[in-house]
Amino acid sequence: MEKTKVAIVGMGTVGTGVARLLLDYGDRTARHAGRILWLEKVVVRDLSKARDMEIPEGVLTDDIAEVTEHPDIGCVVQVIGGLEPARSIMIRLLESGKDVVTANKALLAEHGPELFDRARQLGRAIAFDAAVAGGIPIVTNISQCLSANGIQSIHGILNGTCNFVISQMDELGTDYQEAVREAQRCGYAEADPTTDVDGSDAAQKLALLSHLAFGARVHWKDIPRKGIELLGPEDLRFARELGYRVKLLAVAQLVQDELELHVGPQLVRSDSPLADVGSAYNAIRVVGDAIGRAWFHGMGAGQMPTASAIVADLIDMVVGRTAITFRTLELWSEQPARVMPRDSGTATGRYYLRFTARDHPGVLAEITGTLGRHGISIASFIQHESEGQLGDNVPLVIMTHESTEGATQRAFNEICEMEMIDGPSVRMRVLD
Ligand code: NAP
Ligand code: HSE
Repeated sequence: MEKTKVAIVGMGTVGTGVARLLLDYGDRTARHAGRILWLEKVVVRDLSKARDMEIPEGVLTDDIAEVTEHPDIGCVVQVIGGLEPARSIMIRLLESGKDVVTANKALLAEHGPELFDRARQLGRAIAFDAAVAGGIPIVTNISQCLSANGIQSIHGILNGTCNFVISQMDELGTDYQEAVREAQRCGYAEADPTTDVDGSDAAQKLALLSHLAFGARVHWKDIPRKGIELLGPEDLRFARELGYRVKLLAVAQLVQDELELHVGPQLVRSDSPLADVGSAYNAIRVVGDAIGRAWFHGMGAGQMPTASAIVADLIDMVVGRTAITFRTLELWSEQPARVMPRDSGTATGRYYLRFTARDHPGVLAEITGTLGRHGISIASFIQHESEGQLGDNVPLVIMTHESTEGATQRAFNEICEMEMIDGPSVRMRVLD
């Protein structure tokens, strides 16, 4: 059978999974590609570092030139994280005539225009299905399988680490820091897990999907985002009491021909499919005008699910499918944006508010008075009997009727400034 030589740059969690699929399951990839995908080179930073799997002699190198100068390597999997040297290496690979598969959404969200322009100028291709939602083929589905649709909305659990952390806290009572460490041990988290828990990673993925689905040109930093760092175990308990679960959601939806975008923890109804998405799983609900509502569910992070998406991209690349789809993709092309982002303050919805307040006379009246002045109506309220003395801090939870993001933000900030508010306060949207 014909051999096609390929290379991997970066052998951490994901690179090791790709090497495993190519070396241990070569018969499977050969069947689908109609040729053997021969792992010719693996570039690492430190040759002396112990690796989780054995790589055949002569394959491992710390010299990228062994790939860029190799006349028979046409496709390269580039799985080093961060922006530099990932960006420079990607450009060098393209300029030396290689097509590139990557899982690095931070790189694409930051330098996508430059990298895609360069690839187009050089007649090369970039594939990136693994960059969004790990093993779920959402990039291919949105850019190809659903291309007959006008997409109306995307609601996604797009960060496996956050979903894992929330699930561990909610179901096992694990402490937040311990749950983050566990996500790192499992290989779900980024090298710097701050970018997972502060919502940046989900915003980068949402920017990519919005670009594909709506033709939006939004930088991920311009997407309003909140993380899960301030969530307490009490929020997860209150959410359950109210008939909801908490999930970090990334949302893009068309409202009056503008695109509403946001990332943050939200209450989702306990009977919604999103509520059942546990561990490092991701789920994405896409609404299209022809297909209606479609759901995608699968592992959003981790070695083998991510490697699964990368190897599928690699097969598409060596058989020539990517070259065709890449040319027709509008990604970061000269095309103007088809939709503009909507002013985030105008977004409407219900809200969950939790304040830690002194148990004093008049406290509730001040809080509800402030909400009233901002035109926010209260749908329900929880204050449990305090076990301590009068005057101790107690959590107060308020569910609002429909309001706007701008009004609740202003009222919330005003209440947080009050002298009798003493401790963490949390504001989350509610997806009914
Ligand atoms: P990782 O475990 O930190 O591995 C990154 C690897 O890149 C490390 O092995 C590192 O080398 C290597 N590297 C860094 N600079 C290099 C250089 N100049 N030359 C050669 N190798 C270099 O990261 P990962 O989890 O595999 O993630 C890789 C990418 O995939 C990231 O962009 C991430 O966002 C994305 N991704 C990850 C997942 C996941 O579940 N982990 C899922 C989807 C997407 P050393 O080993 O010497 O440090
Ligand atoms: N750190 C990412 C996550 C990896 O937890 O979802 C997958 O992109």
